[in-house]
Amino acid sequence: MRNKIFQKTETGLVPQKIILPVLDGLSAAIFIIDGNRKITFVNKSGRKNFGPNLVDLDFVQVIRNPDCLKAIDKVIHGKKSLQLEIGVQGTILTTYKVNISRLGAKSIPENLKAKNSDNWRAIISLEDISPIREALTMRSDFVANVSHELRSPLTAISGFIETLKGSAKDDHEAREKFLIIMEEQSQRMVRLIDDLLSLSKVQASEHLLPKNSVDLIAIIKQTIATLSPLAAAENVKINLEIAENIEAMVKGERDQLLQVFLNLVENAIKYGGDGNQVDVVLSAKAKAPGIAGPAFMVEIIDQGIGIPREHLPRLTERFYRVDTGRSRQKGGTGLGLAIVKHIVARHRGRLQIKNNDDRGASFSVFLSQ
Ligand SMILES: Nc1ncnc2c1ncn2[C@@H]1O[C@H](COP(=O)(O)OP(=O)(O)OP(=O)(O)O)[C@@H](O)[C@H]1O
Ligand SMILES: [Mg+2]
Repeated sequence: MRNKIFQKTETGLVPQKIILPVLDGLSAAIFIIDGNRKITFVNKSGRKNFGPNLVDLDFVQVIRNPDCLKAIDKVIHGKKSLQLEIGVQGTILTTYKVNISRLGAKSIPENLKAKNSDNWRAIISLEDISPIREALTMRSDFVANVSHELRSPLTAISGFIETLKGSAKDDHEAREKFLIIMEEQSQRMVRLIDDLLSLSKVQASEHLLPKNSVDLIAIIKQTIATLSPLAAAENVKINLEIAENIEAMVKGERDQLLQVFLNLVENAIKYGGDGNQVDVVLSAKAKAPGIAGPAFMVEIIDQGIGIPREHLPRLTERFYRVDTGRSRQKGGTGLGLAIVKHIVARHRGRLQIKNNDDRGASFSVFLSQ
């Protein structure tokens, strides 16, 4: 059996050539070590992720993790195999699922120098499970966030029901006031559920490229028309600038693109500040970040408080808000930009968010021409 799988070389036992393509095809990093923990073989993923020249080194030079080294020791001296999960801090924290299995029958007694062992070896596989861990954390964070977001309006509503049944039973004025608040809170829950449903719908269709040809100018004009009552209420002027002689047909889904611009212009109105102006600018670009070929750029610029730089990278995460109190008070669910991000991704476009140096923020959507 041994002769079929391994061959002896100057550096120790290595797998036969015939199984190398299999080992090199695995996404996990595979190492074979001898009883001194010396590496005798590394597959392609191992070389790519941990360095090109690892053969002959002590395995400790690959992963300096005490739990992992202890587990290797146990396999050297008795255990047939061990599995564990370890976190390795590089520029980012990576979580590996580690499997250490003794190859061949014998373990080495603790009191015997490993060097004396006859062809002792173990196979170690390191599988990067950070994306799975991250997805699990995100899922539980998401459930916690949704529960929290639903809980606050529900608590308010049930509080007012109690009051209406009790002390405010015959107080007509209080009843009217409480009913208005209860209505607002239930509308907030409806909005939250609508946004969650539209987010999950967008995510489900993200891999399907839209096929229809749609008119970006018409979509932008409809956005502005829909939001003009809100703009009037907030005393904000919307200024539309469209580059001359431009025809802006793109491959897209009309309702989704409308939602993108509704969310962005609504934010610009909400966070842009009373009495200020919001500019919506459409232009054609020969080049755009992350897009092959020419693109259309729709920029939404406000003159509000802007967004401190440290918040920019996380702004499109679900429920992320710069100022939670202010956003809630404005009726926000914190899902608007997450929806925008996923729709733009589905259209293979790009979203760029900038904090303007002088005042306000600008959100640019790039779509392939
Ligand atoms: N133009 C802007 N100027 C300043 N801050 C902004 C702007 N747009 C978004 N933000 C910040 O980003 C956060 C996330 O925006 P997002 O649109 O996702 O949520 P929201 O507006 O709070 O709720 P909604 O789901 O109703 O849109 C906001 O809460 C706000 O703090
Ligand atoms: Mg919003």
